[in-house]
Amino acid sequence: MSRNSRTAEVEVINGKVSMKGRRSVFALCLLAFALLTGCGVRFDMQDQPRYKTYKKSDFFKDGRASRDLPEGTVARGLLKDNKAFYTGKIDNPDPNVQVQTTTDPTGNTLVSSFPNDITEFPITVTKDVIDRGQDRFNIYCIVCHGPVGAGDGMIVRRGFVKPPTYHDDRLRNAPVGHFFDVMSNGWGRMNGYAAQISVADRWAIVAYIRALQASQNPTEIMKMNSTSPAKTGETSAAETHGGAK
Ligand code: HEC
Repeated sequence: MSRNSRTAEVEVINGKVSMKGRRSVFALCLLAFALLTGCGVRFDMQDQPRYKTYKKSDFFKDGRASRDLPEGTVARGLLKDNKAFYTGKIDNPDPNVQVQTTTDPTGNTLVSSFPNDITEFPITVTKDVIDRGQDRFNIYCIVCHGPVGAGDGMIVRRGFVKPPTYHDDRLRNAPVGHFFDVMSNGWGRMNGYAAQISVADRWAIVAYIRALQASQNPTEIMKMNSTSPAKTGETSAAETHGGAK
């Protein structure tokens, strides 16, 4: 075999290794070194063993890699401990209180008592809040409820079912929590708007509805009183621009 052969031949003579084709052997070593250090095996932090969510694991007795969350864990920002702000409902509703209803001329049953709804705003109502409410009302509600809430919006004029006016005794005396509830969860033939309108903006709209009611019955005192302002980070509706929460 010539000196230029590309294959290495190794002979063992008297316990010593003599090599032929040293260049080839050197090349092989170089390759092995490159594989171990460079593109091949890595032992640094990029290769941490880890589980993907919901993968199997033999390490835990229940066979799941995911561990149960400690009891009472709440995702950041989703505690929603201010019940009045997030639901418009009172803290300990009496389950025995009966809801009163009236019947309108068309035979519809109208709810006229709202025992579980809060009667005071859970936010501080300022002019900014009312302006924000006007802005949102004119986007989301005006098409059906009309510019002053008389139930004569443009699509109602074109045939959509007419909503009740905000200016009858029933809705003028309805607690603020009721308006929030209607927007959040829907009411009869009306859809809920929780997905489109943030909590703070829904309260801003309630404030604007109160302003509309006062505008049509100016002799009445506006019921704008509020309890302690919301401790939620969503304090001012005017600061929350667009986007559902
Ligand atoms: C697509 C039309 C439409 C839109 C938009 C709409 N509503 Fe209504 N709304 C209705 C109808 C219809 C009713 C009557 C529902 C029923 O009693 O079955 C109603 C009822 C109501 C009531 C009275 C509930 C009661 O006690 O009788 C309130 C308050 C109200 N809507 C607020 C709003 C607010 C605030 C918005 C905007 C966020 C809004 N609505 C958007 C159609 C609409």
